[in-house]
Amino acid sequence: MKILGIETSCDETAAAVYDSKEGLLSNVVASQIDIHKKTGGVVPEVASRAHVEQIIPVINESLKLAKTSLEKIDYIAVTHAPGLIGSLLVGVNTAKTLSMILDKPLLPINHLEGHIYANFIRENENEKLKMKNCGVASRQLFKFPAVILLVSGGHTSLILMKGHGKYKTLGETLDDAAGEAFDKVAKILGLEYPGGPNVSRMAEEYRRKYPMTKSQCPINDQIQNPKNLHASRDQAKPDKNPKFMFPRSMLNSGDFNFSFSGLKTAVLYAWQRENGGRTLRRSEATGKGPTSVEARKQMFTYEFEEAVVDILATKTISAAKKYKAKTVSICGGVAANKRLREEIGDRVKKLLPTTLLNLPPIQYCGDNAAMIACVASYRIKKIKKEEIKKLKNLDFEVESNKNL
Ligand code: KG4
Ligand code: ZN
Repeated sequence: MKILGIETSCDETAAAVYDSKEGLLSNVVASQIDIHKKTGGVVPEVASRAHVEQIIPVINESLKLAKTSLEKIDYIAVTHAPGLIGSLLVGVNTAKTLSMILDKPLLPINHLEGHIYANFIRENENEKLKMKNCGVASRQLFKFPAVILLVSGGHTSLILMKGHGKYKTLGETLDDAAGEAFDKVAKILGLEYPGGPNVSRMAEEYRRKYPMTKSQCPINDQIQNPKNLHASRDQAKPDKNPKFMFPRSMLNSGDFNFSFSGLKTAVLYAWQRENGGRTLRRSEATGKGPTSVEARKQMFTYEFEEAVVDILATKTISAAKKYKAKTVSICGGVAANKRLREEIGDRVKKLLPTTLLNLPPIQYCGDNAAMIACVASYRIKKIKKEEIKKLKNLDFEVESNKNL
């Protein structure tokens, strides 16, 4: 059984072919990064137009790489919610047209469920081989109940997954999503779009430069004299470093909700204080070399990332404890964050030694169509033969907001 997956909910045009026996046969993602760099963020209308241009070539490429054709596809699966309406419409209308012309059943898939199923994508043998060569650790088994941290540009939730298709949202962000906070902090510091990976890269540079060394040197002096700039992860903690008390909002709220807008504002005010009351223009902020601005930016990205990771990891572990999770997992674009993966991994090992840890490979964390086809492959197993006809009715719409 071959499934063609289509994903166009935001700024990636993606198609994939997934075979229920062989696993993933192809996974093509056309990123719009270069287009949105110019405006420093996604302009919905521009994103939809780019999807229109890309969708057919991307589908063709995915079929070619999978060495198959539209006629040999058994099912089509498409993201219909949540996302940008104009972007979703391109994928959904393409999928509906293909379904009608080819007389193939079509499954509407929730994008958030897609992110969760990044954990279940099976690579075919060739892909596995590539993964081994890349030194990617193999994934552990996945047992239910699982606690899953879903962190993307639009969502931050903790989900209890009791079985395939069975979810309970334990908590979610009350304001900004974690990825949104990364993107906004990148803007404050004058870093390019997409913010998350750039903030993370810069924080990594800081860690590499000043690895785990403890220093008595107050942070203020460090800013004046970048040569004295030493930091340790301990210093990221508020009690050690009152000047950079980036808040860990709602850490002890007793529930599984999140809030990141206070953290973003704290970064903004601290940054403006350090730069004489103004945010740097991008051209100033991207100056090369170990200038004090560069050093300050690195420190800010580091402190910010430590705060976000601490909040996310703390709440994930306490949810896993409360619900006696057999597996802890993360998914969504922010799940590609190296520091988050490392911290969740460390805490599961130390605090929940009998719990499995499942981190989806990085290429399936951001938006892709393999995860959409993968949801369909599990859902189809449960559909009765007489219900398959109904999948040709095409009686579903796009929705900008939709929970699991
Ligand atoms: O899941 P995704 O690709 O799209 C949505 O469904 O929103 O997530 C995109 C988000 C963006 O906010 C991006 O900045 C963030 O994921 N992101 C990261 C990293 N890679 C992507 N955030 C932190 N560290 C990363 N390495
Ligand atoms: Zn996404």
